[in-house]
Amino acid sequence: MFNAVIVDKVEGQYQTALRTLDDSSLPEGDVTVAVRYSTLNYKDGLAITGKGPVVRKFPMVAGIDLVGTVEDSQHPDIAVGSEVILNGWGVGETHWGGLAQRARLKGDWLIPLPEGLTPQQSMAIGTAGYTAMLCVMALQKQGVTPEQGEIAVTGANGGVGTVAIALLAQAGYRVVAITGRPQESEFLQQLGASEVLDRQDWNAPGKPLARERWAGAIDTVGSHTLANLCASMRYRGVVAACGLAQGMDFPASVAPFILRGVTLVGVDSVMAPREERLLAWQRLAQELDLNKLAALSREIGLSEVIATAEQLLAGQVRGRVIVDVNR
Ligand SMILES: NC(=O)c1ccc[n+]([C@@H]2O[C@H](COP(=O)([O-])OP(=O)(O)OC[C@H]3O[C@@H](n4cnc5c(N)ncnc54)[C@H](OP(=O)(O)O)[C@@H]3O)[C@@H](O)[C@H]2O)c1
Repeated sequence: MFNAVIVDKVEGQYQTALRTLDDSSLPEGDVTVAVRYSTLNYKDGLAITGKGPVVRKFPMVAGIDLVGTVEDSQHPDIAVGSEVILNGWGVGETHWGGLAQRARLKGDWLIPLPEGLTPQQSMAIGTAGYTAMLCVMALQKQGVTPEQGEIAVTGANGGVGTVAIALLAQAGYRVVAITGRPQESEFLQQLGASEVLDRQDWNAPGKPLARERWAGAIDTVGSHTLANLCASMRYRGVVAACGLAQGMDFPASVAPFILRGVTLVGVDSVMAPREERLLAWQRLAQELDLNKLAALSREIGLSEVIATAEQLLAGQVRGRVIVDVNR
């Protein structure tokens, strides 16, 4: 038997509860994992509350992240007793996920726990932190260097935002945090932000082109904020877009792209190829300041997940939430 956060639809009504399930109910897969920790990401918040169409098969065990120990394996490259992590691949959406004490998965989805990280630290990073690294890698692949100028990070107090600030500052970039919680300025500066701006000045309809400011940007919120970032990029600046916390729309014009040569790079963590994941996690293990990681994360138990998911979607959670699935 194992405990899990189950999302179900009963007579058209969305229901989420912490339940005890029998091992025989686990889905198909060639590896069974005793889960140690999972996390709460924005997408988990949408899945748990039903506020976004994340879950596509019911009943579903929520949770797009997990770390744990392999209990049983039919996969040639995965040994029983090894520690593995999982992010994405539709887990928690179409395949039972990580907010549970046990998971059965496809071995091809798993990667080894990176050297230098504890299981708990790997989930303090989770999908949000791994996506932050994919965004940093996207900027760097397009040639954005610290000498070129400032990097804007939106949704700065969120999971992706906080890890992105820490990674960029560590790599020598001057980071400007854009947030709806300017009262958290001191925290954002401790993570490495040089300046903190109020998102009020960014999230309303703006001009097709604005004063050139940013060499690069990591956007986690979409909508008018993303449009305004594009409009204020310096010549040949690069924006990495990964999120939709403000909205899925993109009310922009082509002006920044055709007049300033701006590049807009889309970042997806769910189906990212294995080699890119391995590289992102290796870089996270080597480059992320673990003291900052501790400062931006906190731990809850499985029984606190449903209430915390509501707070996360209300923008009341700072940084990352680790879930100890055994308490
Ligand atoms: N593409 C991918 O593979 C991928 C992977 C991970 C995450 N994401 C997406 O990235 C986004 C951030 O994820 P996360 O896990 O970091 O979420 P999170 O921890 O909830 O952070 C989201 C942050 O966005 C800001 N925000 C919230 N509502 C807003 C609004 N109405 N307008 C403007 N800003 C708002 C808040 O930051 P402030 O309080 O600082 O303003 C909030 O902390 C989500 O949209 C998520 O779906 C995508």
